[in-house]
Amino acid sequence: MDLDNLVSDIKRDWEVERYPEDWSFIIKDDKELEKHATPEFLKENRGLIFKNSKKVNKIYLTCFPSTYVLKEIAKRNIKDVLLVSHHPFDWDGTGMGFKTYSKEDYELMKKYGISVLFMHVPWDAVRNEEKRVSTAYGTANVLGMKVKGEFEEYFGAIVSLYGDMPGKNFDELAKRYVAEKLGNNHLNLFKFGPNKIGLVAIVPGGGNSAEWLDDAYKLGVRTYLTGCTDRCKHPYQQAKTKEFLAKAKELKLNIIGASHYLTEKWAMEQSKLYFGKFGLPVEFIEDLAQMKVLD
Ligand SMILES: [Fe+2]
Ligand SMILES: [Fe+2]
Repeated sequence: MDLDNLVSDIKRDWEVERYPEDWSFIIKDDKELEKHATPEFLKENRGLIFKNSKKVNKIYLTCFPSTYVLKEIAKRNIKDVLLVSHHPFDWDGTGMGFKTYSKEDYELMKKYGISVLFMHVPWDAVRNEEKRVSTAYGTANVLGMKVKGEFEEYFGAIVSLYGDMPGKNFDELAKRYVAEKLGNNHLNLFKFGPNKIGLVAIVPGGGNSAEWLDDAYKLGVRTYLTGCTDRCKHPYQQAKTKEFLAKAKELKLNIIGASHYLTEKWAMEQSKLYFGKFGLPVEFIEDLAQMKVLD
């Protein structure tokens, strides 16, 4: 299939042009990226990042366009493919956060004709359709949450959920449901409140924001489940988390940090059916390198 047609169909269906994105914090001063990325991405920070083929023989889905994922694509040895990613960059949750592409990444993309389209806000914008699922709903579906409402605006999209979760108390919810169902035995738990569950918020990915916590509290939330908490070493993240945890303590809220990856990747898996409509093979790649980081 023709790459440009495929990308424009996907972008239209997911309303990619509707949501602004700002990745300037990582793009600026990256001369290598400037050499390889599309003018569209460099100018608008959205859409197709790399165009390395004219046609597409297979669609891959991922949460982060990591070296691990690019190597997995290379292993399958199918040339001219489209990688659709939630983020435009890989994430090092125990290091400095988002990271740029390596020389090896550029070589792999070139050699195997891997073009990369990312949909960040469009995949966070709440939806729970038969074939397309947003990040928060993807996680809620896996956890069996009874959703009661949607909240929190991010770049023009509502991205978070709140509702009821099973379990006798907070400890049981964390261990029996969240750890087991998401497959994360290294949850980052902050118990500032009583051992009760109450209303639970799911704020996928980087939900470590004091302001969002406050908004959740006002809705009646008493357990706040998000991805990132305090392991990222980037000064911006450290300052954000400090404020976030201080607010949680003040409000006596319990926090579950279940990792960036494991609070977002379900949406890519659950949206496989949508990408099947183009008649090409579709594969979600489990990022086993991310499974080792878990933050
Ligand atoms: Fe996200
Ligand atoms: Fe994210």
